[in-house]
Amino acid sequence: MERRLLNTSQTFTPEAIAAIQESAELGRYSIRGFGAFRNVPRLDDLVFLTATLTRFPLEGYRERCETRTVLGTRFARKPLELSVPITVAGMSFGALSRTAKVALGRAASLVGTSTTTGDGGMLAAEREASAKLVYQCLPSRYGFSPADLKKADAIEIVVGQGAKPGGGGLLLGQKVNQVVAGMRTLPEGVDQRSPCRHPDWIGPDDLRIKIEELREATDWEIPIYVKLGATRVTDDVKLAVKAGADVIVLDGMEGGTAATQSTFQDHVGIPTLPAIVLAVEALKDMDMLGEVQLVVSGGIRSGADVAKALALGADAVSLGTATLVAMGCNKPIYVEDYEKLGTAPYHCHHCHTGLCPVGIATQDEALMARLDVDQATTHVANYLQTLVMEAQSLARACGKSDVHNLEREDLVALTLEASAMARVPLAGTQWVVGQNPL
Ligand SMILES: Cc1cc2nc3c(=O)[nH]c(=O)nc-3n(C[C@H](O)[C@H](O)[C@H](O)COP(=O)(O)O)c2cc1C
Ligand code: SF4
Repeated sequence: MERRLLNTSQTFTPEAIAAIQESAELGRYSIRGFGAFRNVPRLDDLVFLTATLTRFPLEGYRERCETRTVLGTRFARKPLELSVPITVAGMSFGALSRTAKVALGRAASLVGTSTTTGDGGMLAAEREASAKLVYQCLPSRYGFSPADLKKADAIEIVVGQGAKPGGGGLLLGQKVNQVVAGMRTLPEGVDQRSPCRHPDWIGPDDLRIKIEELREATDWEIPIYVKLGATRVTDDVKLAVKAGADVIVLDGMEGGTAATQSTFQDHVGIPTLPAIVLAVEALKDMDMLGEVQLVVSGGIRSGADVAKALALGADAVSLGTATLVAMGCNKPIYVEDYEKLGTAPYHCHHCHTGLCPVGIATQDEALMARLDVDQATTHVANYLQTLVMEAQSLARACGKSDVHNLEREDLVALTLEASAMARVPLAGTQWVVGQNPL
């Protein structure tokens, strides 16, 4: 056939045609796990200018590069002291199996960092496995209890998530088994929607009251984080800081989820790269940089991502999807079960179905048995440690004895977009797009 006849419309692509026909047949929108599929400006678009003659690199085997990270120094009597600038993000029990939650807790504890609960409450086994556990207070309040609040090492008020800022969550009935339903005090086997906003506030003034309430309930001991999906970052960060947040957790549009409308994942919010920069600028404007810590998430996969986020001004990063991948998500095993879901290893984004072939995003006992908790723990811990070593080696190569000393001046951009968003020069020029003349 002539090539001309096989030309593809850039508007009605094969994916767009399939999506139209799917919604025509089913009469509903599509839901999926994972994060944004579209290509966005990302940390990959930045590179480090490491030390040469103008600066001295540090020797990897002899000179230390510190990674200690402290979160929540503003008001809390017991800030969270972590060995590394990487934390494990909040992922709900319900979306994830209890074995996956336990493996995450154990792995985080092994590397000296924190893990986070999620929608649906705190699992006793998760608390036991996690040396440092951040307890989420979400709009749904599913499983939220004053008793668990007292057991937390920090509280994270979730205003939004990068994958679905402004949108609520969804847990399909097939994942709502007896235990999940019990913790959420909802019926078994029925789809559960998590609301998009908190029941007891209608604006930032109410957030201040909520923060005070939680501080009183925990005797001003533990830090209170506020998690935002990255949209109107500058104003949101300022309002959260004004309301009394100790830590801002900012989740870019690449951020993962177990189940959200795909229309949200690809068409809502801004990427992690510009979000970090806007948040840092907002904190600077308020003279709060360093006093209120910034944790960023959304698409962080490598030590280079970690180092770049820190160089742009984050105090720490938080990882969701990548930790699941480390424990076996999308691994080429049980291939026939991926096929039953209509997918294949490396392409799976079917966490919402509850039929996770590798036993991570499921409540089915037979599937869960496929996840070896000890091995998953080791793999996640190895992975997190590798990220730390990669970030340290980049920091040393930039001449820094602490990963937190990485700075924007260490970076240049490979694309015009990244230069404009990161406020760093385009590689090979002095030009910061949008800031100074060429
Ligand atoms: C399976 C899964 C479940 C999640 N559940 C929650 C949740 O209950 N509460 C929440 O605030 N965020 C939740 N998230 C989002 C993460 O906390 C985090 O913001 C996101 O995963 C970061 O992006 P990354 O996955 O690219 O690392 C979930 C993410 C995943 C992958
Ligand atoms: S392998 Fe499991 S955890 Fe990974 S995307 Fe598929 S369903 Fe989700």
